Order: sequence, then C-alpha cells, then structure tokens
Amino acid sequence: MDMEKLVKYLKELKEYGIKNDIPNVTETVGRFLNMLVKIHKPKNILEIGCANGYSTIWMAEAAKSVDSKIHTIDYSKPSFEEAKKNLAEVNLNDCVKFIFGNALEVIPNLPDDLMFDFVFVDGVKRYYLDFWNAIQLRLSSRAVIIFDDMIAFPEKTKAFSNFIQSVEGFDQVLLPIDGDDGILFLIKD
Ligand SMILES: C[S@@+](CC[C@H](N)C(=O)[O-])C[C@H]1O[C@@H](n2cnc3c(N)ncnc32)[C@H](O)[C@@H]1O
Repeated sequence: MDMEKLVKYLKELKEYGIKNDIPNVTETVGRFLNMLVKIHKPKNILEIGCANGYSTIWMAEAAKSVDSKIHTIDYSKPSFEEAKKNLAEVNLNDCVKFIFGNALEVIPNLPDDLMFDFVFVDGVKRYYLDFWNAIQLRLSSRAVIIFDDMIAFPEKTKAFSNFIQSVEGFDQVLLPIDGDDGILFLIKD
C-alpha cells in the first residue's frame, strides 16, 4: 500500500476510533512517531498499548523501511485482535510481533537478550512509573523513549511526572504536541 492510501486508511481508522471511544494518538503524534523511527532507525521497538493498532501502523510503516521490529503489548483481547487484523489489512504485520498480556508481567519475561532502542508508552496513565521501571533493564544506550498524554492527564501522570524530572542519565523534553495532548520525549545517555 502506498503512503497516500495508507494515510487515507489511517484517517478512517482515526475516525472509527473517535466514534467508538478508542483513545488513539492524534494524527500529529502518529506522524511524529513515524518520522522518529525513520530518523533513529531502531533495531527493536517496544510499544505498550496498541489498542486497535493506529499508532502501531504509523510506526510500522517506518519500521518496514528501516528494517526495525516492533514488539507491541496489549491486555485487551478485542483490541489485540483488532490490531492484528488492521496491521494485516495494510500489509504491515510482518514487522510486528503482537504480545497479549499485561506489559508489567510480559516485559520481565521477554528473552534476556532482547533490548529496545525505541519505546512508546501509551498504556494506563497511572502506571507510567511502573512502565518506566519495567523497561529500565531493556533499554539500549541512546534509546528513545516516548510517553503519550503527559499534558492531557496531569493528575494521572503526576507521580511519574514528579519522579522523572529528577532522573539522571537521560535527556528529556516535554513537547506540547497538539496542545492538550503532549508527549514526554527522552533519550538515554
Ligand atoms: C490509549 S490506548 C492505546 C492507543 C494506541 N497506542 C493508539 O494510539 O492507537 C491504551 C491501550 O493500552 C492497553 N493497556 C493499558 N495498560 C496496559 C498494560 N498494563 N498492559 C498491556 N496493555 C495495556 C489498553 O488495553 C488499551 O488498548
């Protein structure tokens, strides 16, 4: 599928998400993730929370072009199945490994040598600090880490937000993408 058709597909998927209360990232965040994957060329990408695969498709289009592998985790069976179907529909499932389960249980049980150089976190906001702790042993040097909705849900992300500001060993910036959405962008030293 060429990019023009893919963008049309993604716009329809986003519309579907709005109508059905699926909290997909915004199109701008999707495009930003896509660009970052193309620039950073990670070997292994980890996504926590794929829902129906909207953000996964944005990353997968880039991952395919730079030979990256995405590992995406979701614990909602209907969402998980829908993501698999949607990625297959746009022929981008080859570069994605779908893992069903709670990320906090799945991540420690991944193969010991599986390290990530790109992580996108979009699971339950109040567990952001737990997700942060869970990924620490999995981060390659220079890994890029992105947390979505850091401005949209200040109460739910407060504990993590307070904690992360004093963490050393990472460059970090809070980007007000789409105004009230906001992503936290970090690069490991
Ligand atoms: C905001 S939605 C993800 C949207 C998706 N990233 C997108 O933009 O299309 C959050 C998803 O994370 C999943 N989720 C939340 N906490 C999780 C956890 N601890 N482990 C696995 N999946 C989780 C939910 O089931 C839900 O599908």
